[in-house]
Amino acid sequence: MNNKILLKQVEEIINVNKDSRYRILTVLSNISSLLYHSFDKLNWLGFYIVENNNLVLGPFQGKVACTFIPNGKGVCGKCLETKKPILVSNVHEFEGHIACDSLSNSELVIPIFRNDKICLLLDIDSPILDRFTIEDKDLFILICRKIETIL
Ligand code: SME
Repeated sequence: MNNKILLKQVEEIINVNKDSRYRILTVLSNISSLLYHSFDKLNWLGFYIVENNNLVLGPFQGKVACTFIPNGKGVCGKCLETKKPILVSNVHEFEGHIACDSLSNSELVIPIFRNDKICLLLDIDSPILDRFTIEDKDLFILICRKIETIL
């Protein structure tokens, strides 16, 4: 899919239910569906929410996943700790990787900020080794920047 069209769809999904207290839940649910179905070779895509400096499961697409991830543990916990995107070509070589779905072979995690504080993570898993490129990473960062505009 064309990146420009995808970004436009992200904007449309974000600009809904502005007066609803559940807007963020609505938006993250639809964004996870949009992204999961727009890219091939994915087996899980979703959000983790930062709570008390650890992670709890948010809206996602894919199989049942870990509901709590401690700071520093696995790829997501490392992203929370470092506050930087992490692209992992082979999760089996990443120390402490948490295998929620045994199909996963590569992973990309992007931090999302509110007032410069990390508050969410976008986590994307693939059954293919080396699935994600630097261009993919940059595109997902751009999408996360759009989500930040409503936080
Ligand atoms: N693999 C992740 C855990 C989350 S699941 O993949 C959905 C990790 O190592 O942090």
